[in-house]
Amino acid sequence: LTGDAAHGEQVFAQCRACHSVEPGKNGLGPSLAGVVGRTAGAVEGFQYTEANRSSGITWTPEKLYQYLEKPKRVVPGTKMIFAGMAKGQDRADVIAYLQATGQ
Ligand code: HEM
Repeated sequence: LTGDAAHGEQVFAQCRACHSVEPGKNGLGPSLAGVVGRTAGAVEGFQYTEANRSSGITWTPEKLYQYLEKPKRVVPGTKMIFAGMAKGQDRADVIAYLQATGQ
């Protein structure tokens, strides 16, 4: 999975309404700082759905790539109200951005 983090930062505009990349800064969605490689549902102080918390997912780049295309297909019952990103390259780019910011 090869992505362009600089373009991914622009794509992340679609996520910013609900997510930050600052550690500990939760909004409508949990902080995405360090999300790549992390277990689903692990952000302290964020109230996840049971569906997300107990999904057993590890957010690898490949898993995020599937999830961001159609969140509800990967986590049925999630409260992440986001239709998904159809463009595979945009998904790869935003994942590269998340990976870069999380280091
Ligand atoms: C959860 C990514 C857009 C609201 C998550 C998770 C990821 C993610 C990886 C799981 C986090 C974890 O398990 O710790 C993204 C990305 C987005 C995006 C990359 C943009 C492409 C949005 C938008 C909203 C939103 C626009 C609000 C309208 C949420 C909520 C959760 C969540 C509420 C918790 C889900 C639950 O507990 O069921 N997001 N998200 N996200 N996101 Fe997003």
